[in-house]
Amino acid sequence: MELNIEINLTSQSCIDQVNFDDLGFGKYFTDHLFVAEYQNKTWNKPRIISFDNLSLHPALSALHYGQSIFEGMKAFKYADGGAVLFRPEKNWERINMSARRLCMPEIPKDIFIEGLKIFVDIERNWIPSKEGEALYLRPLLFATDGFLGVKPSESYMFLIMASPVSKYYSKPIKILAQKQYVRAVRGGVGAVKAAGNYAGSLLATQEAKKQGYDQILWLDAIHLSLVEESGTMNLFFVIDNEIYTAPATQNGTILMGVTRDSVITLLKSWGYTVHETSLSMQDISDAGKANKLQEVFGTGTAASIAPVSAIGFEDAEIIPQYHEGYGKLGQKLYENLVGIQRGTVLDTMGWIVRVPEYAYS
Ligand SMILES: Cc1ncc(COP(=O)(O)O)c(C=O)c1O
Repeated sequence: MELNIEINLTSQSCIDQVNFDDLGFGKYFTDHLFVAEYQNKTWNKPRIISFDNLSLHPALSALHYGQSIFEGMKAFKYADGGAVLFRPEKNWERINMSARRLCMPEIPKDIFIEGLKIFVDIERNWIPSKEGEALYLRPLLFATDGFLGVKPSESYMFLIMASPVSKYYSKPIKILAQKQYVRAVRGGVGAVKAAGNYAGSLLATQEAKKQGYDQILWLDAIHLSLVEESGTMNLFFVIDNEIYTAPATQNGTILMGVTRDSVITLLKSWGYTVHETSLSMQDISDAGKANKLQEVFGTGTAASIAPVSAIGFEDAEIIPQYHEGYGKLGQKLYENLVGIQRGTVLDTMGWIVRVPEYAYS
């Protein structure tokens, strides 16, 4: 443990109050919270404390002006009984990209990565072990100045909290492409994990749910036709045996997922070509009509690989050939990704980071 940290373990665990047969997503929290504060241009010594409410200034700039960013990642129970993280450096790089975009201080690597390892070690009893289950980790950075005025805050709080979770989606999902609302614009903040992006997506998602859909398929804000992403997932399409996903260059409007990158890397290692190309809804509709749309799936930390059973578009539905569950490729990706994360498939990519067992005194 190289990180200089203060650890105050709780005397009373609340793990007994958790129904591990019905975890759901994000409703239970572990016993502790990792806290690091930034003041006077420096990061103070991080602490691990009991999970509890925070006391916040009513003029907190994160609440008024939205300087708030987060990450989503998971700790898994490994085949040998240990605890592991999946590509945590990617999340560290991405939270700092988000921080730069929102004029927030970058988080030093030891605070983020070592902090996660120590925190997960302390909470290792909370990592559930059934298929599809994991300990979801939520790093969060927000502005803490108590001041009314639009400017970058001078003080910040970085937290890591954890929630034992089960599968995000239990069945294939239906997504709706609509033209009334957009998620991100060129030059905006769509490519980073700004809290406000999610607030901005709620109304469209709520309306889609009323129409029987699980999520929105976001279209680009300029043409209202190019496919961007869906909910908290990037999207992949298999058309006539070719694989497509939206490119990183699409106006900086897409959140570049760690799962997306892992899926592309796995596919390439198996000899597939992945086209990082902008597809239009017309392309997808045409492929559907010509019976060439074989599979559609979303990729994300929460959902892993989520098969899409239908895409609503202009009062019609586009149905992929595989719509009752995983298609061939989705299944292979799911088995390999989850296998690597759980230690049943060899990690040839070096993606797994073991959580050491530290000694606390
Ligand atoms: C908007 C959005 N797109 C895509 C993703 C998928 O990213 P990842 O695979 O890193 O979880 C997420 C989740 O973080 C997201 O919030």
